[in-house]
Amino acid sequence: MIHVPVAQPSCGDEEIEAVSAVMRSGMLAQGKEVARFEQEFADFCGTKHAVAVNNGTAALHAALTCAGIRKGDDVIVPTFTFFATASCVSMCGATPVFVDVDADTFTINPECVAEAVTGKTKAVIGVHLFGQPFDIRPVLDICEDHNLAVIEDAAQAHGAQYRGKKVGGFGKAGCFSFYPTKNMTTGEGGIITTNDDAYAAIMRKFINHGQGEKYRHTMIGYNYRMTDIGGAIGCEQLKKLPAFNTLRISHAAYLDSHISVKGLITPYRMPDSTHVYHQYVVRITPEFPMKRAEFMRYLADCGIGTVVHYPIPIHRQPVYLEQDPSVSCPVAERLCEEVLSLPVHPNVTETMLEKICSAINGVI
Ligand SMILES: Cc1ncc(COP(=O)(O)O)c(C=O)c1O
Repeated sequence: MIHVPVAQPSCGDEEIEAVSAVMRSGMLAQGKEVARFEQEFADFCGTKHAVAVNNGTAALHAALTCAGIRKGDDVIVPTFTFFATASCVSMCGATPVFVDVDADTFTINPECVAEAVTGKTKAVIGVHLFGQPFDIRPVLDICEDHNLAVIEDAAQAHGAQYRGKKVGGFGKAGCFSFYPTKNMTTGEGGIITTNDDAYAAIMRKFINHGQGEKYRHTMIGYNYRMTDIGGAIGCEQLKKLPAFNTLRISHAAYLDSHISVKGLITPYRMPDSTHVYHQYVVRITPEFPMKRAEFMRYLADCGIGTVVHYPIPIHRQPVYLEQDPSVSCPVAERLCEEVLSLPVHPNVTETMLEKICSAINGVI
């Protein structure tokens, strides 16, 4: 039986050669491979700077801290996302203020952002969730009116476009993750894109123990550096990213047009933007003939991997429930009950796509 994993990194001889060259060079820590990767990633996103770090959470923490987010500040975040979107706010000593998402796109609802702004709000983090940009323009407008920083959490959306422009350059910072299941990887890794020279310079210090010159520390920083091994992998993966995204988009189009069963809703695509399908997330509504858990077991028996992204909205996570049990985000709460991610990654073959669709359409 063919097994279809729900996620799988795509690395080849190019990455193996690049890593071997770094290993042979003797320079394993951050060096010229990271510098080359930063330049190439900034060029790809169309931003002035890209600062590489060792994971996407570090990227968010650095972006927020260097934007001046501190204890006593509020940062608005969508509650339907990966935990790190919110925990990075708490890592700064600030408070994440959870808002609901749009029922179609699953991304931050600009109307909810407008309602949540208070005198304590300092920033908004929008997440380009599952590969689809959030509706950036209205969020930028609200933030311009109230002098708030916009941080793009682009961990899942390398190469996605909003109104013809790649994500990562709309706000103060764009934060990407290169975890192995992402649209491109460096093993573990992350990067922050920005067009602000001074901000990029502070972030470079922050991620390197607060030192500009070696052993002269002007601020408390962290060791968030990417290794040259990661940088070398990143350069090879970046060359392949457009082809990876094309495959993800074509797999999604296949699933869109071949899945046909009552009560299963395929992903919505916003006009004027490019969804790069980090995940292909369907909704299993009450009209569907099986409960979601039963459907997952059925697909597993057919050799098809699935995951729930995400089972608990962040405001209901034990650590944040304590902070404010009164928060209510009904759209996100419902989505957590209904969503299911199907395989869409570049290694999915046509035979696998046929298998996925016939298994799903066979549900009665
Ligand atoms: C939306 C989102 N934000 C942030 C992160 C954090 O990235 P990392 O796992 O590289 O720390 C992830 C990664 O899973 C993510 O999906």
